Amino acid sequence: MMPYLIHRYGLYASRDYPTGLHVAFFGRSVIELLPKTYEYRRINLETIMRNIIILGAHGGIGEALVKACLTRYSDCQIYGSFYRGAPSYEHKRLHWVPFNALDESAYLNLASQIEDVDWIINTIGILSSQTQGPEKSLSQFGAEFFNTNIQLNTVPTLFLAKHFTEHMQNSDSPKLVTLSARVGSISDNRLGGWYSYRCSKAALNMAIKTISVEWGRALPQGCILALHPGTVDTALSQKFLHSQKTIFTPQQAANQLLDVIESKDARQSGRFYAYNGSTIPW
Ligand SMILES: NC(=O)c1ccc[n+]([C@@H]2O[C@H](COP(=O)([O-])OP(=O)(O)OC[C@H]3O[C@@H](n4cnc5c(N)ncnc54)[C@H](OP(=O)(O)O)[C@@H]3O)[C@@H](O)[C@H]2O)c1
Repeated sequence: MMPYLIHRYGLYASRDYPTGLHVAFFGRSVIELLPKTYEYRRINLETIMRNIIILGAHGGIGEALVKACLTRYSDCQIYGSFYRGAPSYEHKRLHWVPFNALDESAYLNLASQIEDVDWIINTIGILSSQTQGPEKSLSQFGAEFFNTNIQLNTVPTLFLAKHFTEHMQNSDSPKLVTLSARVGSISDNRLGGWYSYRCSKAALNMAIKTISVEWGRALPQGCILALHPGTVDTALSQKFLHSQKTIFTPQQAANQLLDVIESKDARQSGRFYAYNGSTIPW
């Protein structure tokens, strides 16, 4: 019986198992060795998660995700980023990190603090700035607001993938999930308007699809997703709730999103899903 295997992610000792089977520990999965062939198959697909990063953890959906993750994943450490103001919510497994998404060094700084990452959930985004809301018509369009939308809705996911792919190599089922929006779907666009937000989320969707192609080589067990949370009662959506039929609380949204995230793996990487798990066309 070979005493160890060299796996593409490292060297792992095998040991005799009480049943007489030989098993090896690959990362955090138990792999059963079939003695004569040295073939192996996973006998325990349950993923043990250690570290989850939630970007925008002081925002409406982000904070609800933090609380839902602390409840669902009892062994897990959560790293939550905040930008404006210090969060008051505390938990022994929650580590707050100040983070300005516009500054690439913030991503490097965060990556230097967490060696191995299982999930990253990015909820950073804007719909309105201090001075401008989403455009109703072309007459309201300006390059500065457009660029701010791109910088906060599109660029963070690219920086996260750039700086964290290496940190996800040891995870069995690493996931990078960013909250997109149904209005970023080109084929679903019937109402028009919201130029900057729509374009930045459509660009985000393309970034996610493109990262999934690179991850097919660089992180084949990885899953990157764009998720639409539905209309959720947060500061971002306050002015626009009156026209909506279905509105979720942040807690409902967080639990629905986690259900979707849990149900997806590398086979669905690069796709765009709604809160109920249905596929949204690009
Ligand atoms: N609410 C909805 O109905 C809805 C619908 C579709 C899609 N979405 C998407 O869901 C995501 C979360 O939205 P939300 O409703 O939870 O909005 P929110 O409460 O306004 O949260 C936005 C988050 O972005 C963070 N942020 C803004 N500028 C930042 C910067 N420069 N650096 C770092 N972080 C920054 C905020 O951090 P601080 O609070 O710490 O400043 C906050 O955590 C967004 O991407 C949004 O487009 C929301």
